[in-house]
Amino acid sequence: MSSIKEAMSCFTTGVTVVTTHFEAQDWAMTCNSFNTVSMDPAMVLWSVSKSALSNRAFTQSGGFLVNILSLEQKNLAFKFSSGTQAERFKDEPIERLKSHRAKLPMSLAWFDCEIDQVVSAGDHDVLIGRVLDFGTREGRALAYSKRQFGHVEMANA
Ligand SMILES: Cc1cc2nc3c(=O)[nH]c(=O)nc-3n(C[C@H](O)[C@H](O)[C@H](O)COP(=O)(O)O)c2cc1C
Repeated sequence: MSSIKEAMSCFTTGVTVVTTHFEAQDWAMTCNSFNTVSMDPAMVLWSVSKSALSNRAFTQSGGFLVNILSLEQKNLAFKFSSGTQAERFKDEPIERLKSHRAKLPMSLAWFDCEIDQVVSAGDHDVLIGRVLDFGTREGRALAYSKRQFGHVEMANA
């Protein structure tokens, strides 16, 4: 019999690193629960585990920045999902935005957001954000499916 985790892992997603700035410190974690919500106004969401050490920073800082990872940034998916916050940012070039939040320069796209709502849902908090600023660059997206990283081959390509 399959587990609920296994069933959920069949939904192929992109991979992001979400950052925030809280109590004069950078915080970040790898996240694949990101999704778009609204076009006008532009809104996005993701969910942070209630047991994450960074939960307080993400739910109380007032905003977050989502970096959509490119295929070349696969190592960052590992780097930002373990270790201390200092280890995650060590040797990592960042660009600091007006919001003080850190952007990873080689990301395929980024969304700098202010928190609109925090919804408690089971063992996670869903963070719904209003997009303040965003950007994109050329490249291929990193994909995550059945707990493995890869890339999407387009049917008509
Ligand atoms: C591909 C991938 C996607 C992840 N997505 C999420 C997510 O959406 N929400 C979440 O809370 N943790 C997610 N995680 C787990 C966190 O990155 C991981 O638990 C991290 O260590 C939490 O850091 P912290 O406890 O220091 O805050 C994901 C991990 C990986 C590898």
